[in-house]
Amino acid sequence: MQQPGNWFGTATLYIAFALALFWTLSTLSQVENLVPDHEVVYASQLLMHIPPNSTNDAYHVVSVKLDGQSVPLNIYTSTGDSFVASGQCDVSDPKSGCYALDAVFNIDENTMIHHGQKFEADLGGAGRATGQLATLRANISGLEVGNVSAALIDNAMPGSFQNGTFAGILGLGMRTASTQWLQFQKLPLVDTLITQGKLAKPLFSLRFPRLGDPNAMAGVLSLGEIEPEFMVKPIKYSDVVQFSSSLDNVDSLSTAAWAVSLDGLRMNGVEVPVSPGRLRPDTKHVSVIDSGSSNIYLPTSDFKAVVEKFEGKTEVRQSTSQGSTGDEVYFECAEPQSLELKVNGNWYLVDPLDMLVSHSSNSTENGTMMCRGGIGSVDSPKIGDSVLGMPFLRSVFTIYDYMSTDMFSKSPRLGLLSLVDTRLAKSRYADLYTNRLP
Ligand SMILES: *[C@@H]1O[C@H](CO)[C@@H](O)[C@H](O)[C@H]1NC(C)=O
Ligand SMILES: *[C@@H]1O[C@H](CO)[C@@H](O)[C@H](O)[C@H]1NC(C)=O
Ligand SMILES: *[C@@H]1O[C@H](CO)[C@@H](O)[C@H](O)[C@H]1NC(C)=O
Ligand SMILES: *[C@@H]1O[C@H](CO)[C@@H](O)[C@H](O)[C@H]1NC(C)=O
Ligand SMILES: *[C@@H]1O[C@H](CO)[C@@H](O)[C@H](O)[C@H]1NC(C)=O
Ligand SMILES: *[C@@H]1O[C@H](CO)[C@@H](O)[C@H](O)[C@H]1NC(C)=O
Repeated sequence: MQQPGNWFGTATLYIAFALALFWTLSTLSQVENLVPDHEVVYASQLLMHIPPNSTNDAYHVVSVKLDGQSVPLNIYTSTGDSFVASGQCDVSDPKSGCYALDAVFNIDENTMIHHGQKFEADLGGAGRATGQLATLRANISGLEVGNVSAALIDNAMPGSFQNGTFAGILGLGMRTASTQWLQFQKLPLVDTLITQGKLAKPLFSLRFPRLGDPNAMAGVLSLGEIEPEFMVKPIKYSDVVQFSSSLDNVDSLSTAAWAVSLDGLRMNGVEVPVSPGRLRPDTKHVSVIDSGSSNIYLPTSDFKAVVEKFEGKTEVRQSTSQGSTGDEVYFECAEPQSLELKVNGNWYLVDPLDMLVSHSSNSTENGTMMCRGGIGSVDSPKIGDSVLGMPFLRSVFTIYDYMSTDMFSKSPRLGLLSLVDTRLAKSRYADLYTNRLP
């Protein structure tokens, strides 16, 4: 749930912090006669929210101004492409992916569209969207930046924008996972911010909101600096694990996505083996951090081993989600399920509330309420061996650090900090899980 009161206080803190940082930087660099200039913002925080009336927390939006127009964008950490539905996409036909959108980007005579640069995004299960690349001005919570490349979508398959849940995608992935870069050498948003010197540090951080949890924090995307309250926390960093983007050439490693090596899986206290990775000569298992993915996706053998250790009755079914070919699991809603993932020597608990997909319950003939679990099986994800989607990201504060402003001269690293109180996670479940039922 949103906590506007809290947020206001935090926002004030951020402003104070931004000012302090501003003055520290100016003093350090001995800049004389500094004129207050709103172009110079080194850090920016955006409140992320679950769209109004949404029955799940798989999607979350931030509001960004593009050429002065506010549009709600869904955050993706696995793609470097950003795009927004344009007024040319049909919002009234249920067969159009732009159906029910009420905040599209309106193209006018000042919009700089590159007609020769056709853009196509494959959103996995969510469909496909096509349009033209454009160059825009962005205002990200006061952080203003020009020469931002984004595609203006004129045609989208149903599901692309989840019936108007958001009007586009804010791609925070690397340039190696960016069509606009690979095809047209147009930098992703964060690369643009960094190369133009707009950020105090070449990094961003994320935390996500959770439905039905009165103690959940607000969701925040922080650009250029991590939030002050996390600076004193024991964040664990690891280099982004490199991997091959092709099964045929596992020796050719590159920094292809924000990814970690998944070293262990534990379900309700029992460790189950992680299958060897297919994308590195040392067979490390590569897991991609993907805020665009509503579930955690594991290879079938790992998924089965994990599900076997669920408490209570379970039922594995073929996924009914659009575009998905794997399996999903239903379990008794009242049973907390504790999934832990081992990354860089540390175990991270997924809050049992995040293992229950909100508004997914169904009662059996016996009257037992069954809920869908936040994990699914996938045998060939588009990138990596497995996918750490939203159930993981709601439970962990994540930092995405490029490490250098000249981009990729050093290995980027990922910082993780558990947000779950492991002692209370299971006991509070009984009081809270019904908040995630219809
Ligand atoms: C949310 O639901 C309320 C009540 O059903 C409705 O009046 C409102 O228009 C809805 N808002 C959105 C953004 O759909
Ligand atoms: C950018 O957005 C902020 C609010 O987030 C606003 O105060 C500021 O005036 C905007 N700048 C421009 C140039 O529109
Ligand atoms: C934006 O791009 C134009 C054309 O490439 C260039 O002249 C201009 O300096 C760029 N602006 C910034 C802020 O990088
Ligand atoms: C979107 O709307 C269509 C048509 O009203 C409906 O069939 C479909 O279930 C909706 N999908 C979602 C994800 O809400
Ligand atoms: C819910 O249960 C009914 C009866 O068992 C079944 O027909 C239906 O497919 C189930 N729905 C979902 C979404 O699983
Ligand atoms: C329903 O109850 C019967 C009798 O106790 C049991 O055999 C069956 O497995 C139960 N089915 C489900 C789906 O819980």
